[in-house]
Amino acid sequence: MRKPIMAGNWKMNKTPDETKAMITALAPEIEDADCTVILCTPAVCISAAQEAAKGSNIQIGAQNCHFENSGAYTAETSPATLKAIGIQYVIVGHSERRQYFAETDETVNLRAKAALSNGLTPIICVGESLAQREAGVTETLVRYQTTAALSGISAEDAASLVIAYEPIWAIGTGKTATAEDANVVCGYIRSQIADLYNKQVADAIVIQYGGSVNPKNVKELMSMENIDGGLVGGASLTAENFSQLANYNK
Ligand code: 13P
Repeated sequence: MRKPIMAGNWKMNKTPDETKAMITALAPEIEDADCTVILCTPAVCISAAQEAAKGSNIQIGAQNCHFENSGAYTAETSPATLKAIGIQYVIVGHSERRQYFAETDETVNLRAKAALSNGLTPIICVGESLAQREAGVTETLVRYQTTAALSGISAEDAASLVIAYEPIWAIGTGKTATAEDANVVCGYIRSQIADLYNKQVADAIVIQYGGSVNPKNVKELMSMENIDGGLVGGASLTAENFSQLANYNK
């Protein structure tokens, strides 16, 4: 069955020294975690993070990758380079990328395909705004984002990737979707995957919830049938908090 993934998205936080200190403190705390533990650090901290995580069961991931392997794309990160330095997981299509950096469903799809073609595992983010939720279009929007992000991706690749459902109104606000509401949307995404591919792919794909996940609500969220992990911002920044998330079942 699906192995849960607890992933931290550090966003634009921490220096290399702070990165090393946090990972050194976290490593012994999550030695017995039953889930896959990932920290997606800023790109400039990846090397420090990898050094500190050596020998532990913390995997270091990236927060984005471009859809070309090389070329005139100032400030972008090549998926081929991420693979070359030993990265496995890369977030694509985070709502902050969509909102502030003009990412579209099309570029999210291109980035996801580029990640897969380099042997990386994309964590594809989808989720509605507060206005969209209040307008009752959450499922329509999430179906559209999921379908667009997976366009041209084979069933085999789809089964190996991760989708993170992150309602925008719950990100960094302290407002979490109730575990039931999050489960409903994650279950809806899974049913869409079954429609797009088949039941085997839907059963295999890991679907995370993200948006104000913290040590208090993690257990309930993780007890839900269709939630296979968390994509965590604020609570992934300290070893004390993130270790409790990775050990949600202890
Ligand atoms: P918070 O956990 O800070 O709400 O952030 C969620 C997020 O955006 C993770 O990608």
